[in-house]
Amino acid sequence: MATENSRTPAPSGELAGRRAVVTGGSRGIGAAIARELLDAGAHVVISARGEAPDAPPGAVFVPADLSTRDGVRHFADTARELLGGVDIIVNNAGGCRSFQSVLELENDWQYTMDINFLAAVRLNAALVPAMREHGGVVVHVSSIATVAAYPNLLHYAAAKSALETYSKGLSAELAPDGIRVVSVCLGNVETPASKTARTRIVELHGGDADDLTGQWAAEIPLGRLGDPRDIADAVRFLVSPRASWITGSNIVIDGGKTASLC
Ligand SMILES: NC(=O)c1ccc[n+]([C@@H]2O[C@H](COP(=O)([O-])OP(=O)(O)OC[C@H]3O[C@@H](n4cnc5c(N)ncnc54)[C@H](OP(=O)(O)O)[C@@H]3O)[C@@H](O)[C@H]2O)c1
Repeated sequence: MATENSRTPAPSGELAGRRAVVTGGSRGIGAAIARELLDAGAHVVISARGEAPDAPPGAVFVPADLSTRDGVRHFADTARELLGGVDIIVNNAGGCRSFQSVLELENDWQYTMDINFLAAVRLNAALVPAMREHGGVVVHVSSIATVAAYPNLLHYAAAKSALETYSKGLSAELAPDGIRVVSVCLGNVETPASKTARTRIVELHGGDADDLTGQWAAEIPLGRLGDPRDIADAVRFLVSPRASWITGSNIVIDGGKTASLC
């Protein structure tokens, strides 16, 4: 019998022939999205700075540091060359590398804005103009930090807030060209980044990483952290023709966390 946690297969081949780029596709949420798009029949190019041992088989990996203008340009040029054009852009690379008062974080503001916001702005500027000829979909991966404004994550929250506002505005500009633009606003998802975050928080403030995981899960109405596949399923739907009337939306995927804050 089907349960709430069993997944209904999405239509196979629904993205056949579509050409997708997924930033930060080497692990975590980005790797799950890349895997899902490949499964749906898309050709997928991914990027990250380091190695990509967990990258899904079939994805073409292009090393690039997307926090820099040159890195984005290199990735955009290489992906365009490899794919012969781009139909789907998933701006997923991002994260937070410091967990302190923003007053102590002078040096981290620029990097945080670069990777969580400007990387998407720059990549879209490089790839979207050609997309105007045939349409496409742009996805931005954001965070419920924009809603909750957690004190030690304000630089990250500010960058993701900028991303969400930009996403909404871009959708209006591109709708006449048949290009849809959406953002997904994520709650706590179990990935290498969330594991690192737990370790850093425990180092800074004490406590136990397992207790922290339990505490985070207890704050989520559905009782568990997200799985990268929860996000990948939603993104697969959003970039597919099944979502053809969805644009300008910011889709919250958080197990009910932000609803419980109201
Ligand atoms: N996990 C969560 O709970 C959560 C919640 C809300 C939102 N999000 C958002 O979801 C997205 C994915 O997060 P995740 O948890 O899957 O993170 P993750 O496990 O750390 O994966 C991040 C990916 O981005 C790449 N990346 C990071 N910095 C980069 C840079 N400067 N240039 C190019 N690639 C870079 C990483 O590869 P390299 O390090 O090798 O470059 C990796 O492939 C992020 O935008 C994050 O803000 C996550």
